[in-house]
Amino acid sequence: MKQFSDTNYSASYAKQILMTALIMLSFVVISSRSHAQAKAPWVSPKAAQDVKNPIAGDKASLVDGKKLYATNCAPCHGDKGRGDGPAAAALSPKPADHSSALVQSETDGSLFYKLSEGRNPMPAYKAILNDHQRWALVNYIRTLAKVKK
Ligand code: HEC
Repeated sequence: MKQFSDTNYSASYAKQILMTALIMLSFVVISSRSHAQAKAPWVSPKAAQDVKNPIAGDKASLVDGKKLYATNCAPCHGDKGRGDGPAAAALSPKPADHSSALVQSETDGSLFYKLSEGRNPMPAYKAILNDHQRWALVNYIRTLAKVKK
């Protein structure tokens, strides 16, 4: 009888150790994953960077871009593209500052790729807006530069 309860005890002890180990392991996996996501810079593929903008940044395109931006992008990126829209506080990573030298240093093709594909928590716009509209947004983002060229 004593033998039986001892075996029982060690079996449940082993189970407890196993459960603790599993829980610890899942913490390590979860924290390393979110770490990796926060750190990895977002780089467009070279082929996408080289794509030329087929739409001139003329008045008509900028009027379109501005409207589309106010409706679709400003909630996160802010009216002036500073990354400070009303939804920004709750997001991680934070929305990019479109007026920054970093964003402005990217090619039109790279910006087009990123807004087409999205990256969590930013949605992908390729199924929501057509090519013409997405290039108009790239043209509009250029007008948000802190120091205009
Ligand atoms: C739900 C919030 C949200 C909305 C809406 C949103 N974005 Fe973003 N955007 C983000 C976040 C967050 C990032 C940073 C993502 C990252 O670094 O992983 C980002 C990054 C970007 C980048 C990349 C900047 C860079 O150089 O790396 C571009 C371009 C961009 N957004 C354009 C747009 C445009 C244009 C729209 C509207 C059509 C839009 N975004 C709508 C949240 C949003």
